Amino acid sequence: MSTFAIGETDFLLDDKPFQVISGALHYFRVHPDLWEDRIHKARLMGLNTIETYVAWNFHAPSPGAFDTTGRRDLGRFLDLVAAEGMQAIVRPGPYICAEWDDGGLPAWLLTTPGVGVRRSEPIYLTAVAAFYGKVLPIVAERQIGRGGPVIAVQVENEYGAYGDDEDYLRELVRMIRAEGIDVPLLTCDQANDEMLARGGLPELHRTATFGSRSTERLATLRRHQPTGPLMCGEFWNGWFDSWGQHHHTAPVELNVDDLDDLLASGASVNLYMFHGGTNFGFSNGANDKGVYVPIVTSYDYDAPLSESGDPTAKYMAMRDVIGRYAPVPDEVPPPRAQAPTLAVRLDHALAWCQARPLLGTTSSHDHLPTTGEIGQWSGFTSYRTQITADDDAVALEVRDRAVALLDGQPVGTLSRSEHGGTLALPHRAGTLELIVENQGGVSYGSRLGETKGLLAPARTATRVLDAWNVTALRLEDLPEDFTERLRATTPESTCDENRPVAGPSFRLGTFDTTAGADHFLRLDGWTKGLVWVNGFLLGRYWSAGPTKTLYVPGPLLRSNGNELIILELHGAAAATANFVAAPDLGHTEQ
Ligand code: GLA
Repeated sequence: MSTFAIGETDFLLDDKPFQVISGALHYFRVHPDLWEDRIHKARLMGLNTIETYVAWNFHAPSPGAFDTTGRRDLGRFLDLVAAEGMQAIVRPGPYICAEWDDGGLPAWLLTTPGVGVRRSEPIYLTAVAAFYGKVLPIVAERQIGRGGPVIAVQVENEYGAYGDDEDYLRELVRMIRAEGIDVPLLTCDQANDEMLARGGLPELHRTATFGSRSTERLATLRRHQPTGPLMCGEFWNGWFDSWGQHHHTAPVELNVDDLDDLLASGASVNLYMFHGGTNFGFSNGANDKGVYVPIVTSYDYDAPLSESGDPTAKYMAMRDVIGRYAPVPDEVPPPRAQAPTLAVRLDHALAWCQARPLLGTTSSHDHLPTTGEIGQWSGFTSYRTQITADDDAVALEVRDRAVALLDGQPVGTLSRSEHGGTLALPHRAGTLELIVENQGGVSYGSRLGETKGLLAPARTATRVLDAWNVTALRLEDLPEDFTERLRATTPESTCDENRPVAGPSFRLGTFDTTAGADHFLRLDGWTKGLVWVNGFLLGRYWSAGPTKTLYVPGPLLRSNGNELIILELHGAAAATANFVAAPDLGHTEQ
């Protein structure tokens, strides 16, 4: 059996110095049929290790649930890393940040009364123990000492940026060891004295996260990790994008120089990201430093391997740098092929008021409930109440955005990002509906795990609105009777594809294409909503940008009768959508 250890100056693989040249690849952001391809391309760039987080809420979307099948099959992912002859580093949180919904922590746990987040508190620790009990056996049996690829496990994530509870870190270590993890344990923190001091423990091995000035940052790390090998736990070779901002890129020349400095110094590295992938469905997180800013659907990250798994100029340049320090295979991945281009007419339509009753169960309340109170942990929720002709306006706190309808007619939008809290009403009695979108749980900082939905009280000038019907919408997996109903609408009776799409509504169109080929969906003229391809919720689109195209992984597509469904919340110029030849992640800062 092989061994992996932390030596006086180096990591030791079978007692020999081993420079970890790792790349981050999150299995939860990549279609499972493409895991093998992405891992293979990591080895071709010269990487010897794959690093992945484990997103707790991806496996446990609701209390009591724990799924490790299909897209969630961590064991299979690690086995593919082993089959490629590579090592693995696993970072099972419990908190991961990663621009992921609530930083990976389950919303159902965060809303439990009395829970203490990321600290020694019994409700939280009991839940973590249960999570570890499910996930760590998958990792334990794949450790290097048992013939598997796993050489190290990380405890927490950049804890020094959040807290200073050493007892919490020690309890995590105790629980991890109790589950049979015997490989070295790492921590990572931003390359800053205060954070490095708080985020680790003397008995663990500290690593630092940074994206530039490698030599200086390694010197900072050395002050806190006086012995053993130095490692950049996350080398930020790109950055994430947020709605309404520019597309972030990191210059190849700078990345390459910083990587060269790192490797030349003998340090180990984990590229964050080697391949970013996609925030499918409702999985994206958000940031909030005074303004709530949700993360876009693409997690391309300007990484060496693009979102669609294609080598970039950065890939080739990094491969050259790595080749100075380690063996790099001769094989080079092929460049990106042109994706099939076609226009799809979405000529089946269902108005929101017809669709909503098919999309979830409704409960009645004598107060305004949060989404947590009705067990809706992500996505969209419909809130309805009665207003009178005397009501001028209603003041609401919305997390995070709401489209307002009065008897089915759009009457406005409220957005938390714009600090919008008051909706003017058109002096008409009727049913006020708010289609409330959870745009993603904050993944970094003190607002981690906030309550979502509408927050009480909702007031008009004269009263508190306290009678509500609330529907937890099932959009992640559209109910079959809903899709049947949408398919059964006839183009003649419902809409003409040349006419605009008005108000919230669902559209459906079918198309034939090249089976298994990656596609890029471009929704120019559409405003904001969700897209499904053959029943799979790709995620959110929004004219706020910067992203212009959504990546559609090839394995989702067959040759005939593919189904495209769009939920448009506002309106579109025409009911057509286009698949284009190449991705467009939007304008950059320059
Ligand atoms: C930190 C976190 C990561 C990620 C990056 C930014 O390093 O540890 O999870 O959020 O920032 O992409």
